[in-house]
Amino acid sequence: MNDMAHPLGRGVDRVDGPRKVTGRAMYSAEFALEGLCHAVLVRTTVPSGRVASIDAVQARAMPGVIFVMTHENTPALPQKGRAAVNPPAGRVMTLFQDTTVRYNGEPVALVVAETYEQAAEAAGIVHVRYETKDAVLGFAHAKRDAYRPERGPQDTRWGDVERGRAQGEVFVDEMYTTPMEHHNPMEPHATIAHWEGPHLTLFDSTQYVAGVRETVAKTLGISIDHVEVRSPFVGGGFGCKGSTWSHVVLAALAARQVRRPVKLVLERRQMFGPVGGRPRTEQRMRLAAKRDGTLTALRQDVLSHTSVFEDYTEPATRPTKAIYAVPNAALAQKVAQLNVGTPTFMRAPGEATGTFAIECAMDELAEKLGIDPVELRLINHADVDPSRGYPWSSKKLKECYAQAAARFGWEKRTPAPGSMRDGRWLVGYGMATATYPAEMEKCRAVAMLEEDGRYVVRCSTQDIGTGTYTIGAQVAAEVLGVPLGQVRFELGDSRFPRAPVSGGSMTAASVGMAVRNACLALKEKLLTGATAPVSVEIEHSPSGEDERKLATRSFGAVFAEVRVDRDLGVIRVPRVVATYSVGRLLNAKTGINQLQGGIVWGLGMALMEESLLDERNGRVVNSDLAEYHVPVNADVGTIDVTVVDENDIAFNELGARGIGEIGITGVAGAIANAVYHATGRRIRDLPITLDKLL
Ligand code: MOS
Repeated sequence: MNDMAHPLGRGVDRVDGPRKVTGRAMYSAEFALEGLCHAVLVRTTVPSGRVASIDAVQARAMPGVIFVMTHENTPALPQKGRAAVNPPAGRVMTLFQDTTVRYNGEPVALVVAETYEQAAEAAGIVHVRYETKDAVLGFAHAKRDAYRPERGPQDTRWGDVERGRAQGEVFVDEMYTTPMEHHNPMEPHATIAHWEGPHLTLFDSTQYVAGVRETVAKTLGISIDHVEVRSPFVGGGFGCKGSTWSHVVLAALAARQVRRPVKLVLERRQMFGPVGGRPRTEQRMRLAAKRDGTLTALRQDVLSHTSVFEDYTEPATRPTKAIYAVPNAALAQKVAQLNVGTPTFMRAPGEATGTFAIECAMDELAEKLGIDPVELRLINHADVDPSRGYPWSSKKLKECYAQAAARFGWEKRTPAPGSMRDGRWLVGYGMATATYPAEMEKCRAVAMLEEDGRYVVRCSTQDIGTGTYTIGAQVAAEVLGVPLGQVRFELGDSRFPRAPVSGGSMTAASVGMAVRNACLALKEKLLTGATAPVSVEIEHSPSGEDERKLATRSFGAVFAEVRVDRDLGVIRVPRVVATYSVGRLLNAKTGINQLQGGIVWGLGMALMEESLLDERNGRVVNSDLAEYHVPVNADVGTIDVTVVDENDIAFNELGARGIGEIGITGVAGAIANAVYHATGRRIRDLPITLDKLL
């Protein structure tokens, strides 16, 4: 494999695989620094009010305890630590700058000890007294004060939705809901903070090395040149590690105080609150269509929850803007405040939730019209971007419907609900459209030829398990025209050239293009006679859709078979078949694997995932992996994924659009539609658990 020439696009094994299986891949919590001590967070036990007093006398006297940090001894930070901007999210952190309690589970103290066990034990006996205030924990209550957020997705209209509605002959008007969810990568958030004089090094599990660096510097009021972030390996991110949360800065503050490196790893339960999650949504979806299936109007009103101290809007109107050729639309977003931690991006934010609503509504419309669900989508295929009229850089969605339908055996579907059976199992076939935007951001990379004849390419991007190490090396080897084994791609270090967040499915395109351009420039320089060692740094600055008047978005078609036990309501999904139009795959193996992983998430979203908020006290009741259900191997049947042959060179010269998130989209819709087809029961509230079917 290492001798492979022209590796781009091939199903190359992960270049970091050997390091992972031999334990040489270093994750953030594994750096064994000299004098390392351990920190454990103490969190609030009430959802609203203020801290009246903290008694840490006993905790401080415990064996091994070095330091207990509370609001009483935390240094005042610029702007009380609350205005720190973490592009793109602008997170508001909890840094013990005041006594306000905004949610149950909010950090309120930090215990540092010689060992983790000592810190955990002492954290358990920090006594916090509260003056409580009424909290808003019921969504029905919160909704009364819903508002349109200032930041985040803006309301969108095009055409004349009233006129469009008047032209309609068949209508759908339904409410679809999705629950609060929390991301749980295998590796929880973890930070080691290490000061050497004025210089801070953070080993942090993050999707955004540059973002952590800039946010921490700004929050502490120190020069960015004094902060360095390393994140060579990340055990999953999914959006929660796209922002810098409180624990990172708290670890840095504590380490400065104790003059030793401090390690802070979040416990599994601490993943449910202080580091975001997917907000609950309610989406009213209204469709109007002519008898021939042509959509004439679309209205979508989305309400999602946010916290009482920061707006995060789940952009569920985003897919609806682009998915069908509807001439008249009005799409609106509102948020309602709960006393919970601020939600955030979670795999395919907006698209995962939004496609559930629109794809179920389209299925309901298809049934009312007596038109096959695939046919209805073809009738309304968007040949250009519907809201702006821009042409697509490349779109092969029609091929996706055709290919996936053929592999799935869609033609065997008999339309009537409950008409397909296999013994005690009610069999259902459902489908949906998948979609996710294709974006690129500014990214820098440096390419070098070393004296030993090896090429080294560096970029401060992250590999969050997706395969960035591998595709970076593939792009470089391809461009340089050398075997893969002659290239080393290094990432996850803020000393390397700046890269954007590994989010929004834009890493392959952004980093790939920076690596490509740096390698091209290096090659050029070598051709003019430069000799090793030589290096070239390049910035790749892509222009956006509006500048180019070009719509860039990926699409796909997802088909699901479900089997529902006629007596017990048990739901099984023996197979999902999907085909995607995502541009060129840079690695056929990691690429298909990413898409399959996204579908597994979709399965969890459809049938299992739900964070249950105790409305009496504001805690998530099922805050562990025993009670918060995600699919295990036994829940996952065949996942058959292909991509159409495509090379989106109008988007970028690599032809690749990014694949991190599209896999989850459409899946919950396809499964909900299949459950309806099997049972005749339309479940519009995720997750579809058996109690809702009985
Ligand atoms: Mo993804 S939710 O943009 O990390």
